[in-house]
Amino acid sequence: MRVAVLGTGTVGQTLADALVGLGHDVVLGSRTSDNHAATSWAQRHPGRASHGTFADAVRDAELVVNATAGTASLSVLESVGADVLGDRVVLDVANPLDFSQGFPPRLSVCNDDSLAEQLQRAFPRARVVKSLNTVTASVMVDPRALPAPTDMFVAGEDADAKAVVTDLLVSLGWQRDHVRDLGDLTAARGLEMYLPLWLRLLGATGSADFNVAVVPAPPPEGAAGG
Ligand SMILES: NC(=O)c1ccc[n+]([C@@H]2O[C@H](COP(=O)([O-])OP(=O)(O)OC[C@H]3O[C@@H](n4cnc5c(N)ncnc54)[C@H](OP(=O)(O)O)[C@@H]3O)[C@@H](O)[C@H]2O)c1
Repeated sequence: MRVAVLGTGTVGQTLADALVGLGHDVVLGSRTSDNHAATSWAQRHPGRASHGTFADAVRDAELVVNATAGTASLSVLESVGADVLGDRVVLDVANPLDFSQGFPPRLSVCNDDSLAEQLQRAFPRARVVKSLNTVTASVMVDPRALPAPTDMFVAGEDADAKAVVTDLLVSLGWQRDHVRDLGDLTAARGLEMYLPLWLRLLGATGSADFNVAVVPAPPPEGAAGG
């Protein structure tokens, strides 16, 4: 599959590395066609990798990954344009973190809205799926490095788009029964508002390499069967 990874930071490059490793053709997108990080990344993967502007990256892609700074993601997709973006699946891994007042960052959107919903409203034909934003980049692409299975969440309006993303997650090593579909895109509010807790867990554990698992109670005795 040809994948546009929008974003040249740690997340963009980590996901792009993993996708190339899985045999996908990846175009790394940035604001400028001569971005240094994107150029060097593409040089490290001759054959399957290329780079260009955000719009260049999306033009021939089957799947788009938004790995740009959350406060810039809307303008990034605006630079691509609705006509080029079309009805593509957009895997949105971004978090709306606003560092303008220092650390810890504030959420630039929260409570009754989310970045993912803002993107979906701005590009109604695109099929936005929120996922992977709740873990650090290395865990996104290697969840099996953690000593026990943990959970990844998906949210979005389009069932087919969520299926595409779920298959991609499984190919990255996520267990299918640990991919939890939280329903429509309003679930992205909770996924993005998890970040303040994630940041406190980072401080408490001293490492970004962690994740959560939902452990449901067993059904009450005698409840099974029909
Ligand atoms: N770091 C993690 O482990 C982690 C985990 C989960 C989710 N996330 C989220 O994933 C996203 C990417 O994180 P990151 O740490 O890899 O990189 P980042 O520094 O948050 O974002 C880098 C990308 O954002 C673009 N960008 C920044 N400001 C821009 C602006 N004003 N206009 C247009 N584009 C702009 C950059 O474009 P250029 O390429 O042109 O410079 C670059 O491609 C973020 O939303 C972050 O919250 C990060």
